[in-house]
Amino acid sequence: MAIGETAEVSEAQIAVHWREEEYIQPSRRFTGQANASDPAIRERFAEENFPECFREYADLLSWDRYWHTTLDTSNPPFWRWFVGGRLNASYNCVDRHLETRPNQAALIWVPEPEAEATQAITYRELYRRVNAFASLLRDYCGLRTGDRVTFHLPMVPELPVAMLAAARLGIVHSQVFGGFSGNACGERIADSQSRVLVTMDGYYRSGELVDHKVKADEAVARAAELGQKVDRVLVFRRHPGEYASKTPMVEGRDVFVDDVIEEHQRAVVAPVSLPAEAPLFLMYTSGTTGRPKGAQHSIGGYLAYVTGTSKYYQDIHPGDTYWCMADIGWITGHSYIVYGPLSLGTTSVMYEGVPTYPDAGRPWRIAERLGVNIFHTAPTSIRMLRKVGPDEPAKYDYHFKHMTTVGEPIEPDVWRWYHEVVGKGEAAIVDTWWQTETGGFLGSTIPGLEPMKPGSCGPGALGIYPIVYDEEGNEVPRGSGKAGNICIRNPWPGIMQTVWGQPERFVQTYYQKYCRNPQSKDWHDWPYFAGDGAVQAADGYFRILGRVDDVINVAGHRLGTKELESASITVAEVAEAAAVPVIDELRGKAVEMYISLKPGFSAGADVEEKVVHAIESEIGKIARPKNVWIVPDMPKTRSGKIMRRVIAGISNFADVGDITTLANPEVVEQIKHHVQSEKVARGQVPRELSAQEMSELQAFGKAD
Ligand code: WT7
Repeated sequence: MAIGETAEVSEAQIAVHWREEEYIQPSRRFTGQANASDPAIRERFAEENFPECFREYADLLSWDRYWHTTLDTSNPPFWRWFVGGRLNASYNCVDRHLETRPNQAALIWVPEPEAEATQAITYRELYRRVNAFASLLRDYCGLRTGDRVTFHLPMVPELPVAMLAAARLGIVHSQVFGGFSGNACGERIADSQSRVLVTMDGYYRSGELVDHKVKADEAVARAAELGQKVDRVLVFRRHPGEYASKTPMVEGRDVFVDDVIEEHQRAVVAPVSLPAEAPLFLMYTSGTTGRPKGAQHSIGGYLAYVTGTSKYYQDIHPGDTYWCMADIGWITGHSYIVYGPLSLGTTSVMYEGVPTYPDAGRPWRIAERLGVNIFHTAPTSIRMLRKVGPDEPAKYDYHFKHMTTVGEPIEPDVWRWYHEVVGKGEAAIVDTWWQTETGGFLGSTIPGLEPMKPGSCGPGALGIYPIVYDEEGNEVPRGSGKAGNICIRNPWPGIMQTVWGQPERFVQTYYQKYCRNPQSKDWHDWPYFAGDGAVQAADGYFRILGRVDDVINVAGHRLGTKELESASITVAEVAEAAAVPVIDELRGKAVEMYISLKPGFSAGADVEEKVVHAIESEIGKIARPKNVWIVPDMPKTRSGKIMRRVIAGISNFADVGDITTLANPEVVEQIKHHVQSEKVARGQVPRELSAQEMSELQAFGKAD
């Protein structure tokens, strides 16, 4: 199948080659106890009941003042949910559980070193810690409602404590994934105009105590270059009283939290009653330009949406022990480790380190010891755990009633191992499709009511009405076997409010493409463009193909090709750079960089290393390319656009498609010869691509 062919034809041909998977029913045991067990729930959330259906989610929260307007559409696409209502997210996740379950663990934190004790933090203790840190943010740092604060924290309980402390005061938190570089953090600090950074000296990763504070110094320097001064850096210590970093503390700017928190320990900070549409947090994500987008999420709509979906899709009951293995630095962790589960008053497990450390049995030992009964992870971890320990789960006595897969398409074969071996055939699985921008799930089966189908996420979630459009905006009918762009026809409470500081980018990225009438105040004219390719089967289930924009999904994390490319061209020798996805057995996809050099420079391992180093320093180790290929020239259109899809074809040993319209078709053969013979030498020849992988590659850059 030709990568360069028009998408419609090639995708239709690919799609019909897919074997429809058999349904798998959830066990009676699961359905008997499920939160969503009455099929009438689908009718309650049917389109004729929109938007009032979402009262059901909002009613799960404690409001200081009830709202008067469920959905205000007067300024599309800046939807306002639960207008007139007032509430506090920290109160909802902490205080309101004090009466019913003060001594139940809210969080259980498992440090990576197995010899180190697990910490159980009860709701009462969480309340104390959140109040103390809120007092520090307010009275020591001088932060006020509406200010932004940046966190660059690893997977430690201090992170949810800090989030809930900020939320208590209406301070907008922006947690930057701990694995991001100091420079990436600095850019996000500048974009959000934070003057306070909260970090930690170090954390454990694969048995090593990593120096993390060093990144704070880089972050502050980069933010300063971009015009944002950070005047306070709060440093938690991984081991209080000991300092794990080699970088000095900066006098007057840096303080250890354990040195200054003492006098705030007994503070009681009243939760500030805030409008439902006030911002709760920013979560930065990659897009089609270099500048990251700060997805702004609201208090009322977001919290209602993650609470409702945690209840019906994660099937969380207060008495469950729920473990989501994601990092809180991503949206999954915000919605489904912190806000959703704690709002429902359950016990949420956090793990500091690498799932396969010190061996592939680690997650199953944790599950057995803590009695985890709901488990949530991504295909990349499932593939890894299967590869290194296919028989490990059977050795441990744990029982999951429910499991989630999220973040990237899962191969049916991997799905079946998850179901049979990890889930021991007992667990109901949800494959939840959604995004940073969407706050919560968009596509999934209701676990107790709708059968599972490996590789498909399922139908639209409750109150979500998806549609597949072709490039012209015509509906691609279900069961047609054709792929198109999946959109959501309606607004929902979890949708981001805007791109922080760039409202025009919000409209342009998500709504411009399919907006029927920019003057219209009717939500029906404003479908949300998700940026994913998808096929809808005759039964209404969606199979997601992956990004159609310039985003590469590596191990469930979004990397923008533009960010990778701008990092690469910071290397003095580099003239041009192009990033493409290459199918990777474990990570789903990995990144490969193609580089052309400025005149007078010649290819060599040193340039390749500089490019790798630049990417690690600008973005982080997660973005490390699998290969860097130095090429004489990039394949380009006559208008000078680099044809990423042609080089993606080369990298994946797939067809490069029709190249006759290129300005320089002759370079394609040259690059292909060089790259592919080198890949043969490095033992990197992929097995034949599956239909799913081919369509994922075809989706890439389609909207370029
Ligand atoms: C992109 C969003 C939201 C959770 C973590 C990722 C891909 C997400 C699935 C799924 C197939 C999926 C999409 C989406 N994706 N979930 N269940 N099946 N693909 O959040 O970093 O904002 O990435 O992840 O391509 O657009 P994110």
